[in-house]
Amino acid sequence: MTPNVLESIAHTRAAVSAARQAGSRIALVPTMGALHAGHARLIERARQDGQYVVVSIFVNPLQFDRPDDLERYPRTMESDLQMCASLGVDAVFAPVVGEMYPHTPTCTVHVGAVANYLCGQYRPGHFDGVATVVMKLFQIVTPDRAYFGEKDAQQLAVVRHLVRDFNLPVDIVGVKTVRESDGLALSSRNARLDQEERRLAPALYAGLLEAARLIARGETRANVVKTAAAARIRAARPLRLEYLEVVDAQNMQPVERITGRVIVAGALWVGSTRLIDNVRCDKVVLP
Ligand code: PAF
Repeated sequence: MTPNVLESIAHTRAAVSAARQAGSRIALVPTMGALHAGHARLIERARQDGQYVVVSIFVNPLQFDRPDDLERYPRTMESDLQMCASLGVDAVFAPVVGEMYPHTPTCTVHVGAVANYLCGQYRPGHFDGVATVVMKLFQIVTPDRAYFGEKDAQQLAVVRHLVRDFNLPVDIVGVKTVRESDGLALSSRNARLDQEERRLAPALYAGLLEAARLIARGETRANVVKTAAAARIRAARPLRLEYLEVVDAQNMQPVERITGRVIVAGALWVGSTRLIDNVRCDKVVLP
């Protein structure tokens, strides 16, 4: 089935309202395109929940802190639409920048403490841009549910805070990270890696697994966990580790002692490509 490709906000509102009147619940899978198996998993989850599925494809300039990153972001609309068709997506909302931002917005969302560390610390304004566009997408598509990948753990936390703080009537569904057989988390940015970089890239996940193993064995000192994981990553090659942090899984604040559910998250530069990944860990209470 070919999805209804909608470029205007007005047509999107009309399509969603017709679907709702016909008795459907509305699901939104927000993306920036360059769709891969990780996005497919989000779409499949949305489909399984038996809803009218809208995929948004919009490379949001507001969330890019570096102009070259925005410019180089992969754009693969034709194959994206093929994937949406093969997965039974009902509608694709694919606006141009002028449709979403006809003028420089005077009102934007500012994200507080949940964005202070991890990517928020290294990409100034990034999560304000994400929260602003997600808020707009929620206003346009009015989904009952929206699906986000756990690979972007801080983004997922930001969206959950957005929904809570603004009382938005949307259920947020987090979907597990999809990985290549060597552990590399799927990402649209992987397409930029050359052969050698692709070989090195799984080092980040290997380090995160090391952290998870230590926590599972009862280590509660975040510093010990971070040092071991970073050493594992650096042992692989001289890759530039931007950050590796242990944070509380709800509020994304760094912890010194691991006393509950945490996320160990890292960002690694492989050549000129920045990759992020994370693992979720529970403190294990040993007998
Ligand atoms: O994760 C992404 O692709 C983007 O950050 C999102 C959520 C679609 C907002 O532009």
